Amino acid sequence: MYISSLSLKNFRNYTDQRAEFSPLTNVIYGNNAQGKTNILEALYLFSQGRSHRAKTDRELIRFGTDAARLDIEFHDAERDYKAVMLLEKNGRKSILVNHVRLTKLSMLMNYLNIVMFSPEDLNLIKGSPSSRRRFIDAAISQLYPSYLSALNDYKKALIQKNSLLKDRKNADRAMISVWNEQLADNGARIMTARGEFVELLNSFAGKIQKEISSETLEITYSPSVKLENISGEAMLEYLDSRMKREIEFASAIFGVQRDDLRVMINGSDARLFGSQGQQRTATLAMKMAMSEYIRHIKGEYPVLLLDDIMSELDISRRSYLAEKIRDKQVFITSTDTDLNGSTDNARLFRIDNGTIFKE
Ligand SMILES: Nc1ncnc2c1ncn2[C@@H]1O[C@H](COP(=O)(O)OP(=O)(O)OP(=O)(O)O)[C@@H](O)[C@H]1O
Ligand SMILES: [Mg+2]
Repeated sequence: MYISSLSLKNFRNYTDQRAEFSPLTNVIYGNNAQGKTNILEALYLFSQGRSHRAKTDRELIRFGTDAARLDIEFHDAERDYKAVMLLEKNGRKSILVNHVRLTKLSMLMNYLNIVMFSPEDLNLIKGSPSSRRRFIDAAISQLYPSYLSALNDYKKALIQKNSLLKDRKNADRAMISVWNEQLADNGARIMTARGEFVELLNSFAGKIQKEISSETLEITYSPSVKLENISGEAMLEYLDSRMKREIEFASAIFGVQRDDLRVMINGSDARLFGSQGQQRTATLAMKMAMSEYIRHIKGEYPVLLLDDIMSELDISRRSYLAEKIRDKQVFITSTDTDLNGSTDNARLFRIDNGTIFKE
């Protein structure tokens, strides 16, 4: 799978720019704050429907203008795609794929698969459980739109339940149980999908870790709700039987909103005992495993976006990565072009204050 072109109109600091990409390595370089990450952000938008860093779509529209338009062309083994995204200041967002308008954002999933790796991801292991849940959810949603729907329905029901729980004295048990039903059904689906995903991820990540270092890596799913057999009924029983505690807490403390991943290096918990370097290697292995996972399910590698990551890795990890990405499409941003051999035969783009120069 690869992206062949991108056009940006009034997107971030771009007024009107177009670029044609190599199906292999593309290096986007330039000084700080020129618009390198903005390009990766634009590409990423077409895989997840939303930015990896902006809180609202409005931030993406160039200051002083009313709408942004992005056009992208990408290709998989079966067909060619042209997609358009229009972001308006009033919050409206329209997406067309091959001239067909998508009525739901989740319909965008499964067209363009992207794995993004940026310096913030280096906190994946020592960061909060929510960042690890985001990592899992982004991977599964890309391939299974129904997962994203279950997740969104779950989040909506959770907000309703939490607002009932807030009123500790008059908590309406019958109503809470109604929301529990919704949470149980979707929660069971989410748990099953997360469990299956993590099992596959673990098998890929373990192999990759061995290629980079001599250590063992083991990733396991650590659900908040422990059930012998995962089902909507079992989940409902679990939640209903703990309603009293949730009312005491005035918050929904049981459910997939508390799930986590356990990452073990050489048998001990990497979050607590891993060195900075070990955590970095494991994160790299997890990201590369994500790419293998997508290939496993979809039959094709996703496009890889590496935002400023090369400078964060030492020589051995860098050359490992360079070797891995040689035959896949990758976009690398950097403030310089000297990336230790990983840019031989790469197409270079210099970014200067919202203008793209192909070198
Ligand atoms: N909505 C917007 N309208 C106009 N300019 C914007 C908008 N959003 C961001 N910018 C500008 O985009 C630039 C930042 O772009 P970007 O994050 O891509 O930089 P970068 O080249 O990746 O820099 P670094 O090397 O520091 O990561 C800043 O100059 C910022 O002011
Ligand atoms: Mg940047």
